[in-house]
Amino acid sequence: MPAQKNNLYSIDSADNTKLKDLFSRTVSYLRLSLTDRCNLKCLYCVPEEDRMQSLSGLAHNDLLSYEELLRVVRVAVSMGISKLRITGGEPLVRRNVMPFIEQLVKIDNLNDIRITTNGVLLKKFAKPLAAAGIRKINISLDTLQPERFARITGVDCFDQVWQGVEQAQAVGFSPIKLNTVVMRGVNDDELDDFVRMSQDTAMEIRFIEFMPIGSSSSWDKQAYMSSDEIMERISKQGKLIPVSREKTDGPATMFRVGKDAQGKVGFISPISHRFCDQCNRLRLTSEGMLRSCLLDDRETDLRSVLRQGCSEQDIQQTLLAAVRDKPKGHEMEERLKNQGENCHGRMSRIGG
Ligand code: 5AD
Repeated sequence: MPAQKNNLYSIDSADNTKLKDLFSRTVSYLRLSLTDRCNLKCLYCVPEEDRMQSLSGLAHNDLLSYEELLRVVRVAVSMGISKLRITGGEPLVRRNVMPFIEQLVKIDNLNDIRITTNGVLLKKFAKPLAAAGIRKINISLDTLQPERFARITGVDCFDQVWQGVEQAQAVGFSPIKLNTVVMRGVNDDELDDFVRMSQDTAMEIRFIEFMPIGSSSSWDKQAYMSSDEIMERISKQGKLIPVSREKTDGPATMFRVGKDAQGKVGFISPISHRFCDQCNRLRLTSEGMLRSCLLDDRETDLRSVLRQGCSEQDIQQTLLAAVRDKPKGHEMEERLKNQGENCHGRMSRIGG
């Protein structure tokens, strides 16, 4: 008779440190938010009333220190985390970020470290990041028009970001992915331009469905465009040829637009085609809260554990508890239909 599985939390009895949830999903991807600060104030991230003032961000002591972060990552890697993304806020605004990244890169068995940035400081950081061994980068860019960039982000620095993108190309980042949140009436008239860029350069442009995150962000139903609608629009520019993906590639479905395209376009559809079944992610917010679902506000307080003189086992137990609580799926589409509430968490502390 096969051995009975009597473990309540479906943690493998052979290995009770594997990050497995109640629905047999294995968590192998950790997203670390280094800071809630950002040098932009994008309309979907910062509530309208805060856009006019300078934002202070969390007090330094509220953030996890680099030592604390490294300790958590080491334990997480020993439990099966193999892919890590550095996010923010804007991660490159945190002081002394490069020595921290250099330490991260040295962690055994962690061979896939990526970064998401808004590109503002990339001209300066592309080279040291590449020298540290980071090769994969996501750059958030919602428009190719300087004036519109200033309107969306609150800061007039498109050219600086573009120089950052060029510098990333020059030092050999590959792939370079541009994340574009598509918002009807804001940037949907630029779909053609982004697609053309995916044909003329090796970049991957990933169109992201606009999610209702943050209690008073600019999200509204009219601005939301589903991936199906975006796809239909761009299919006028060429045949969408599916591109096979690697396991570590994330939730985007990828295409070339026309057979001669050098780059790709992708669609990330958290609302219309939720990918919860395959979700392998765990997030650590800038103040040390573990969040097992982007769109679910429940969090596990790891910082308090870390600051009570904890052992490595305590960190393990906290990670296991957070993963165990991972919801089966978010219900955002249903909530939207019923005029439900936005999720409250601020993107700037969760890190996307
Ligand atoms: N909906 C969709 N994407 C968002 N991002 C930030 N806020 C939202 C939102 N409400 C994107 C950023 C960045 C990534 C981490 O998440 O543009 O590229």
